[in-house]
Parts: sequence; C-alpha cells; structure tokens
Amino acid sequence: SRTVWINGSWLPEQEAKVSVFDRGFLFADAIYEVTAVIDGKLVDFDGHMARLRRSCASLSLACPWDGEALRALHQELIQRNQLDEGAIYLQLTRGDSGDRTFLCPEGTEPTLVLFTQAREIVNVPQGIQGIRAITCPDIRWGRRDIKSVGLLAACMAKQEARRQGADDALLVEQGFITEGASSNVFIVTPDNRLVTRPLGNDILHGITRGTLLKLAQELGIEHVERPFTPTEAREASEVFISSATSLVWPVVAIDGVAIGDGAPGPFTRRLRERYIAALR
Ligand code: PDD
Repeated sequence: SRTVWINGSWLPEQEAKVSVFDRGFLFADAIYEVTAVIDGKLVDFDGHMARLRRSCASLSLACPWDGEALRALHQELIQRNQLDEGAIYLQLTRGDSGDRTFLCPEGTEPTLVLFTQAREIVNVPQGIQGIRAITCPDIRWGRRDIKSVGLLAACMAKQEARRQGADDALLVEQGFITEGASSNVFIVTPDNRLVTRPLGNDILHGITRGTLLKLAQELGIEHVERPFTPTEAREASEVFISSATSLVWPVVAIDGVAIGDGAPGPFTRRLRERYIAALR
C-alpha cells in the first residue's frame, strides 16, 4: 500500500481521507500538478511548481508551502514509496469549509494531498508505436491555463474516444485544435516545421510543451506557434501529443485517417529520444 501525504501527515492510502465538505470535492475549487518521476528523479520539477504558483495566484488560493517545502515533500514521497518510474500527483484545495457554501469562509485552511502513481513512462507502447485519436468539440471553460481539477469535459472526451475504438481525443474549438484531452498537440508540416498552438487562456501551458520547444531549438528544428485545424493535422507528416506522463506520444491516426505512413515519424522519434536522453 502507498504512503500518502495529506495535510501534514504521512498515512497509508486506506487511512488518507478528505472531508465531504472539502471544496475540492464539492466545487472542484482546487488545482493540481502531475510531475513525472524517471529513475527516481523528478522531471521538470521547477516548471511544475512555477505553474502551481500561477494557478494559485489566478484563484487567490494561498499555498502555505514554499518551493523548498514542496520539493522536500516530493522527494520524501519518492523515498517512502520507493518510486523509480511514474508520477507524483499533487492537489491543493481551498479546504474544508464545514458546510456547502459557495463563498469560502475566511480563515479556511487549504487541503494538500500528494500521492505516487507507479507506472512505466519510457517503455510504453503508446510512446513507441503511437496512439489513435479522435477529434471532438472542446466544451471546457474559458480559463484552461489554470490547472484546475474540473476535468469532466476531459473524462467525457476520453470516454467518447474509447467508444469509437481510439486511445485519446483532440479538442476542437472554432475550427482549430486547442489541445489534447490531457496533453498539448504538435504537428510537423509537410515542409518540416514543428507547429503548436500559442499560449493563451484557451490551453494549459504544458511544461512538457515548453521543454520540447527548447529541445527543438537545440536540434535546429524550425518551429512556429500558431493555431492549426483538424484538416491540417490529418494532412500533416507527423502529429504528437505531450504531457508529463506521456512525454511524447506519436499520434498515428486521427478520426481513422492515417497520419503520414501511419507510423511514428522521424521528428517525433528524435524529440522523444532526446527528451528521454536529457533525463538520464
Ligand atoms: N495533464 N493540457 C491539458 C489539458 C492537460 O491536462 C495536460 C497535462 C497538458 C500537458 O501539461 P504538462 O506537460 O505540464 O503535463 C496539457 C496531466 C498530465 C494530467 O492531467 O494527468
């Protein structure tokens, strides 16, 4: 059984409980982060904590733990759970307000929960052989740059992908792909340019996305941040998604249409390999 951190205590997972009046549970009044762990080491940790601060600031949510305290917690969690490869999930809620009240009473203490998820990240078929995606309407709210736990639309999109026999969903708004249900999306155009949507309120500012753009720069791959349509993606030479827990997953089909020759392409493979090499 895992050891979980909850509000200042280390507890076996069976004993880690949150109040029914916790605002994360009642209102999704909470934010989260997912940081990958590879070879027992945290991946892009500073980026994830910087984004946690931004999410907190956007919601006037005070985080009583500073960067060093959060790093120590992550490291102790890795040690206590002997985590070699997987992820650390962190959730910070506005706390238990003692009743269901939209306005949070002053002085409510936030709830902080951290737990590990042991899972393979490097040697997974999705990363090596790629995934099949569907497109579906992006029905989410207007502040997707805040990493809030309100993930109903993402769950629905992934359920629809499964119903259609696919692995994941790419979300479409006003004719353009915003991002994946839990990832950012990149395409490689027929003239070998890497394209991804620019940052704004309409997508999450993926930490993996940022690292990949830096790696692309180092590899001399030309890249441009602009919106692209589902048609452009289907006709691209390569498509891939990025996130902390996938790093890079090639997308080999969209809505049943093969991308390129239907196998992961060279740019995608180079970026994935370079990312993994940089971690080791
Ligand atoms: N999801 N966009 C959305 C909507 C996401 O949920 C995620 C990550 C990303 C990629 O961000 P990053 O590279 O910082 O992981 C983009 C996490 C992994 C999750 O919900 O499990």
